Parts: sequence; structure tokens; C-alpha cells
Amino acid sequence: MRHQEFRPDEQFAVGLDAGDPLARFRDRFEIPPGADGRPLIYFCGHSLGLMPKSARDLVAQEIDDWARLGVAGHFGAKNPWYSYHERFRESGARLVGALPGEVVMMNALTVNLHLMLATFYRPAGGRHAILIEAGAFPSDHYAVTSHIRQRGLDPETSLILARPRQGESILMTEDLERLIEERGAEIALVLLPGVQYLTGQVLDIERLGAAARLKGCRFGLDLAHAVGNIVLRLHDWQVDFAVWCSYKYLNAGPGAVGGCFVHQRHGDDRTLPRLAGWWGNDPETRFDMRPEFVPRRGADGWQVSNPPILSMAPLLASLAIFDEAGLEALRARSERLTAYLLTLIDGQGSRGIEVITPRDPARRGCQISLRVQKNPRELASALASAGVACDVREPDVLRVSVAPLYNRFHEIWRFARILARDAG
Ligand SMILES: Cc1ncc(COP(=O)(O)O)c(C=O)c1O
Repeated sequence: MRHQEFRPDEQFAVGLDAGDPLARFRDRFEIPPGADGRPLIYFCGHSLGLMPKSARDLVAQEIDDWARLGVAGHFGAKNPWYSYHERFRESGARLVGALPGEVVMMNALTVNLHLMLATFYRPAGGRHAILIEAGAFPSDHYAVTSHIRQRGLDPETSLILARPRQGESILMTEDLERLIEERGAEIALVLLPGVQYLTGQVLDIERLGAAARLKGCRFGLDLAHAVGNIVLRLHDWQVDFAVWCSYKYLNAGPGAVGGCFVHQRHGDDRTLPRLAGWWGNDPETRFDMRPEFVPRRGADGWQVSNPPILSMAPLLASLAIFDEAGLEALRARSERLTAYLLTLIDGQGSRGIEVITPRDPARRGCQISLRVQKNPRELASALASAGVACDVREPDVLRVSVAPLYNRFHEIWRFARILARDAG
């Protein structure tokens, strides 16, 4: 459906929901109530996704098995804990376009990034630098800077920052390509987001990965805002590694276990240096209690500790829903939801609010970022009082996400009406 086919009246929004086969998935989630008891207009999936109702039973299952079995639950639980992480092998791979074995759910995002940097940041001779975007999420900035220092290098000379053009918010693919082309011989690793956390921009991963490979640089991704949001083909794009969290669009709960992708060509290379721990050892010999480390093949070989079963159970609930709905179908719905949101915002005229997320559907996910010229925090709190959950990131960006699993067209219609009233 093209933009001009959207009408601005309420009846039209109701009709869109009524004819939408994916709208039924909303009932699988707990929608928090607002102060007036009505469900919140929850546009904060970019921060913390909502709870799948099925998570409760899956967590209870593990609690009950723990009570019933104690240590015997490692092998005797309904979902044996010893191999629990293997339950994500297929569904985890489907999420990011990987082969089974290229993905493991473990730790949290930044921890996984450290593990990947330990392996894939190998400064040598003139190739010493890491390229990230200047506006990277601070945790990524801290992580790469700490690795540069760990290797006895100086971030002043070994950290290269890519910036949008003067006065712009969005990174241009051709600018990034040019930077990689010009400075590629110095760059050991390019680390980029799949979706930029502030602007909602979807980066052209395939093109940028190819540019990095051409210059002999490793290419890694922070997929915090991309996983469960856009369609990814990490294996085919030959990405070296990727890391993500599961508490945003994957709806796996606060502090949920993160994820990690290691391309097959590295996963099978047992000689790669890594920060090792017993859970990365081949399970066949794990309990032989020998000092030599024999990494398991695939991404599993980067595990360090035994997995947090209670925080993995909600992810199981969530991925079952993704498998049922289908990521491609969700992505198509997400494009329609954001197109509708953009149409309604555009219909209100500017009034000091600028959409900074790219208009091209291929370059945006389900987050629309609005630069608010006057009092962004006041606007956010007026929206909160009216029952809208969204957030502001410094200094002036309002982030609004319409998650295709649980948001509705009618919520977008209501949001636009509230925005028109409060952003005057
Ligand atoms: C883009 C991005 N990277 C990294 C992180 C840090 O994640 P974690 O606390 O799971 O390490 C976040 C958290 O919101 C994020 O949005």
C-alpha cells in the first residue's frame, strides 16, 4: 500500500486493523495499563519489548523443575538445562539469516562484543584501527576503546570515527564506503550497527560488508536494534560476527540473554584466539576435567559460562511467536505501520518536529525518530500523561517504535492525534 492510499480518519485506522491477519498476535502479549486503566500506547519496543504471555509458563516450568529435581534437572528437566541453549539453534539462525551452529544465545550484548573483539580485533603492523560511527551507542564506544588500550594502542590514532555530513543525521553509504576505501589499509575491524539506535536508520550491511572485505578488514555488527526488526542474511553477507540483545524487539524480558553470530568460516577454525571458558569446550570432553581447551565447533565455542536458564526461558516463548508469525510477514507489516505513521505526521505540517529516520522503507525499521525543536522532554511527558510510552534521547530526539507483533494502526491514529494536540 502506498502512502497516498492512507486516509486520516479514525474509521480508516480501525479498518486497517480489522483486515490485518497479523493483528491477532497482539493478544499474545501483556500490554501494560496506563494511569486511566486503558492499555498504554506502547511505542517503546526499541528499549524494552512487551512480555509474551507464554513466557510465564516457560519460566514456571524451569522453576518447578528446579524445585522438583535440584541438580538432576541438568539432564532430567523437561527441557534439560545441560543442552538448553541448543534449543535456539534453528530459531536463532532463522532470526538473523544464519546457518544452525552460527548462532548462540549467551551473556549480554556488550559482554558478547568483548568476546568477539578478543577474537576478531587483531591489530598487526599498519593495520591497527577500529572504525565505528561517531554516534555509536556508548557501550560500543567504551568496548572498542578498551580493546585498543588493552593492545597497547592509543584510541587517538587507532579509533576512526565515521560521521554524517555537516548538518545531517544519517550516515551515507557512499561516505562510509569511501572512508573504508581510503583508510582500509589501517583498519583491522569495521564495527557498525544494523539499525542506528538514535535515528532508526537501517544501514546497507551487505554493501558495507563487501567494502570492508575488499580492503581486508574484519566486519562486525551490533544488531541491538536490528534483530527481530529487519530481515537479516548474515551468512550470505559474509559478516564476520554480530552481537545483539533480546530485550528489545525480541521481547525476552529485562536483561534477557543476548545473542552472538560467528560466521561458519571462523566457527570451524579452532585455532582462533579467544577468551575461553568451560562451556565453550566440546561437551564430549567437558567433564574430563582436563586443562587443555578444545573449542566446540561453531558459535557455541565462544560460550564461557553455563547458561542462565531462567533468563533464557522467555526467549524461547518469544522465538516461538516469531516463528509462527514469520519475520518477512512482520517486516512487511512494520513497513505499513511506519508508512501510516509518517503519513499522519506529515499531514500535521512541521510545527517544529522533523522526521530524521530515512523515508526509504529499505532504510528504516519500525522506529521513527523525531527531532523536536522545542522542549522535547516536555513533549515526552505530555505524551506519557496521555498514555503513550516512548522516549527521548539526548539532546532532542523522540523515539517512537511501532512493533509489528503488538502495535495497531488505531494506536498510531490515536498517537498522531495526541501529538497534534501536545506539539503545538
Ligand atoms: C545499540 C546498543 N548497543 C549496546 C547496548 C548495550 O546492551 P547490553 O546492556 O545488553 O550490553 C544497547 C542497549 O540498549 C544498545 O541499544
